[in-house]
Amino acid sequence: MDKLVIRGGNRISGTIAASGSKNSALPVIAATLLTPDGTFAIDRIPDLKDVRTFIQLLDYLGAETSFENNLLKVSTSDLKSIEAPYELVKKMRASIYVLGPLLARFGHTRVSLPGGCAFGPRPVDLHIMVMEKLGATVTIEKGFIDAKVNGKLRGARIDFPIVSVGATGNALMAAVTAEGTTILDNAALEPEIECLCNFLVKMGARIDGIGTTTLTIDGVDQLKAVGFENIFDRIEAGTLLAAAAITGGSVTVTGVVPEQLASVLDAFRQSGCAVTVKEDSVTLVAPEKLLPVDITARPYPEFPTDMQAQWMALMTQAQGNSTIIDRVYHERFNHIPELNRLGAKIDIRDNWALVHGPQELTGTKVMSTDLRASACLVLAGLVAKETTEVLRVYHLDRGYEAIEKKLTTLGADIERAKYQEF
Ligand code: UD1
Repeated sequence: MDKLVIRGGNRISGTIAASGSKNSALPVIAATLLTPDGTFAIDRIPDLKDVRTFIQLLDYLGAETSFENNLLKVSTSDLKSIEAPYELVKKMRASIYVLGPLLARFGHTRVSLPGGCAFGPRPVDLHIMVMEKLGATVTIEKGFIDAKVNGKLRGARIDFPIVSVGATGNALMAAVTAEGTTILDNAALEPEIECLCNFLVKMGARIDGIGTTTLTIDGVDQLKAVGFENIFDRIEAGTLLAAAAITGGSVTVTGVVPEQLASVLDAFRQSGCAVTVKEDSVTLVAPEKLLPVDITARPYPEFPTDMQAQWMALMTQAQGNSTIIDRVYHERFNHIPELNRLGAKIDIRDNWALVHGPQELTGTKVMSTDLRASACLVLAGLVAKETTEVLRVYHLDRGYEAIEKKLTTLGADIERAKYQEF
């Protein structure tokens, strides 16, 4: 397996380009299943393990794909299967995104249930509820979601009891070719959903209210393949800014939409960082001493749960105590015991964490447990004395494109190495 070996203490400084977003790339790729008409060319797709797994899933279904230099070409004109198998779904929960488009196009699909997750239960009941509201009959059989509809899906009003990025995405993909009008209330506002809407509209879908919590979709008969450019990865950008903040450095991330980082930039400013925003770049200069900032992770536009772990690493260096609450995933705190092994002092009280800052961190071996927890440990390693080894780095590879190369460019002493797990 791969590990990252980090010799801490270097300041992270310089200019770096943001990669394309993973969380928008996956639903956009899924949406190509909606139409047999033509070949899609989608640019700025990050070269990541999750993206490669999704492409593998499309290949399995019978799509023709090519992926080079962040350009993905896909034709789904000749699909051979309507089933997403366990072997691929278990690698990546986001495979559930094929449910909506396959059901809409073929009137039948079988998608393996995703199973457990490193940070607590992550049910798919809302995805199933959406398909049922749109007229499908859904049964759970031998670990598969089997969804069927006689004829076409039918538009409906769907009020989400909680905000779900994935269920909103699946609802959009199922509704764009349904008969009549679908209204999604309490829809997710995340930029990745806005990106999916823009992609679907380019394909010929009719969606009103993009960028709001109420989306109105008028079903159309036909969609076509198009060219498209994916959006930037706001979580990667936030992580790179955090790398500068934690090491007393200064970083400019280019190719971003600063408004989409607003809650994170606000937290950086409160922590004493100087943040300058230009049309498509953000510069962060770390302060002499970081201030503690309490954050609560909530759906967009509030502080993202996907930046919560990285923020916790940063707060271990703040001049005072801070609290971190995650209202999206109540059990997303696997990084705490590992941070504590590096010398942090963090207590968990129910669903919130109390970070005692500042604490000097000292490198040792730590283990990644999920994607963002790995990013948190890398950040801690950048500031820790001596050498930190982050094991099971495959979690990080799921969501960060060439992260150690980017950090090396910015001055980090970080390298990838092989190791054997006992
Ligand atoms: C997406 C992101 C993930 C991010 C999360 C929240 C992708 C590929 N992943 O995940 O990185 O952390 O949004 O911003 O885009 N829920 C249910 N029932 C469901 C679906 C969700 O109860 O059927 C709950 C979840 O357990 C969670 C909350 O809803 O507590 C939000 O989850 P959701 O927004 O659906 O996350 P994902 O789309 O899976």
